[in-house]
Amino acid sequence: MHVYLNGKMVPESEAMVSIDDRGFLFADGVYEVIHVYHKKLFEWELHLARLQRSLAAIQLPAMDGSELARVAEQLILELGPEQSEASLYIEATRGTHRRAHGFPPPGSTPPTVLMWVRPVNPIPKETVGQGVPMITVPDDRWAKVWIKTIGLLPNVLAKEKAHQSGAFDAIFVRDGMVTEATSANIFMAKDGMLYTAPATNYILSGITRHVVLELAQARNISVNLTPFSVDQLLMADEVFLTGTLTEVLPIASIDGHPVKNPSGPMARQLLQDLHERAGLQP
Ligand SMILES: Cc1ncc(COP(=O)(O)O)c(C=O)c1O
Repeated sequence: MHVYLNGKMVPESEAMVSIDDRGFLFADGVYEVIHVYHKKLFEWELHLARLQRSLAAIQLPAMDGSELARVAEQLILELGPEQSEASLYIEATRGTHRRAHGFPPPGSTPPTVLMWVRPVNPIPKETVGQGVPMITVPDDRWAKVWIKTIGLLPNVLAKEKAHQSGAFDAIFVRDGMVTEATSANIFMAKDGMLYTAPATNYILSGITRHVVLELAQARNISVNLTPFSVDQLLMADEVFLTGTLTEVLPIASIDGHPVKNPSGPMARQLLQDLHERAGLQP
């Protein structure tokens, strides 16, 4: 497989980044992950818009969307006929320069730009049917979680803690309120109503979250975007994750407490609607 690195398609094994890359030294960069269903990018425009927002937030120049789309199409061409699902990864860092915290002088380095497409395995139907176990952890991330930066150490540590506890993932809790999971947003359903945390600076505003909110609206499901606590989550009828590769994934338990309906009708319906929007057969 080839990857795209700094303007060139190169074999994956030959793609190298400098030890002075600011992504490596400072996590000084941003990224995007896009689901590829049957060789088509899902919600490309929304992902591109978020990438441009992330770039602007860390004072990197906007990227050429049509060039990115062209490269993505080229990478997708390398997928085999049996590889029906894949992910497109895009990363841009502040380039390569002798280590110093301040930005490199203007014009001294172009950003490092990496893109690859790799096959993904859909989440097994049994996992979706049963739901997954979660733990809660304090949300000790910085206050600009809305920027999709590659600085993901708190997320990595929380995910690992979940794995070491036998759970699938961790739910971040800030000031008693649920924010999100390590790489997905969280919804709950109660008495036919859908709840998810508001898109403040304390969550990454997921593209899947956005799509699911639209799908809910199309089904006349009422949505409440006010913060909720873990206690409220435990009293919900259904709880589920949303994310680019997670799609809509029901949660079965939280810190060992079972969720009332781990594979409830709301999550099932919204997953079906999401798949329909992605052009998948039911
Ligand atoms: C912290 C965090 N929250 C939420 C999401 C879900 O966002 P999306 O639906 O755009 O994948 C992600 C995705 O990686 C994430 O890293």
